[in-house]
Amino acid sequence: MKTYKIGIMGGDGTGPEVTVEAVKVMDAAAAKFGFKVEKTDYDFGGERYKKTGETLPDSAIPEFEKQDAILLGAIGHPDVAPGILEKGILLKARFALDQYINLRPVRLFPGVPTPLKDKGPKEIDYVVVRENTGDLYCGAGGFTMKGTPQETAIQTSMYTRYQVDRCLKYAFEYTKKHGKKARGIGEENTLGLVGKTNVLTYVYDLWERAFHEMGEKDYPDIRRDYYHVDATCMWMVKSPEWFDVLVTGNMFGDIITDLGAITQGGMGIAAGGNINPEGVSMFEPIGGSAPKYTGMGVINPLAAICAMQMMLETLGEEKAAKKIDEAVRYVTANKLKSLAAKQMGYTTSEVGDMVAELVAG
Ligand code: IPM
Ligand code: MN
Repeated sequence: MKTYKIGIMGGDGTGPEVTVEAVKVMDAAAAKFGFKVEKTDYDFGGERYKKTGETLPDSAIPEFEKQDAILLGAIGHPDVAPGILEKGILLKARFALDQYINLRPVRLFPGVPTPLKDKGPKEIDYVVVRENTGDLYCGAGGFTMKGTPQETAIQTSMYTRYQVDRCLKYAFEYTKKHGKKARGIGEENTLGLVGKTNVLTYVYDLWERAFHEMGEKDYPDIRRDYYHVDATCMWMVKSPEWFDVLVTGNMFGDIITDLGAITQGGMGIAAGGNINPEGVSMFEPIGGSAPKYTGMGVINPLAAICAMQMMLETLGEEKAAKKIDEAVRYVTANKLKSLAAKQMGYTTSEVGDMVAELVAG
């Protein structure tokens, strides 16, 4: 029987309680579909930082590298200054494990209200492949004359051809496998590059050349589109049905996926994967730690369940992943009054139970 080693990092606020529900559903899927899960808990997060001053110690990285995947709850603590935990834990793990893809589906589930007028699950159904290591996130920059009236600050967006090519390769392969044609819901598999070639004439010039070179040579059957990032925001609201798979740099990907998340019903449902296709990947609900709801049992666990679902899909447990996806869709369509905390009509663990029972059934 296949055994997966899964690192569980519940993190801060409501992170641990939603992670418990994701693990509950994962266990149900393991029993049903015949695989085993060996779990290791990690307590990295704001509480530990407050006690020990430690965010993610270097020693955690080789530990993580022994896992098949990591499931993360949420990072962010009201008593810790912004940036410390995000950079010290989340970004550190992404970089150290070279999780160079951030995969963020934008899917409206049945029964979930969207702020987009006249759009439903059929229209809001695409995926953003966000590059996850380079760009403005690379850390290059600094101050001169800090604190004086002449102060300057500089922060550099940087991409190597290597980083761009490996991200594009993942995006093309993903499109080949999961594009709208591959899923039987479209005429073509389409990969759209989101950039800003009219202003960022170095970085996105590199991206655009690499995109067309690779597409022409290795993926002639995949349709290639190009969109400026500002126009992309407009179309994500006006005509999301145009999109299939989008690929973009780290900063634009960060920004447009928050817009995407709100169109799919918000942080209660949006999930993502920090993926190293050759290494250890880490899956997370995109919503934050929601500290004011901690321990109340009122937060929606579906985003964490969806993150775990992506994890199983990436590990190759496709049947289990499909079943979980169907179960979540059943629950949003038929059970929950709302995705919002306190308004679901169920407690956090009741939602987890419902999904787990459907998966087991
Ligand atoms: C995200 C977050 C992070 C990012 C922050 C918390 C560092 O916004 O996962 O999108 O910018 O990548
Ligand atoms: Mn973000």
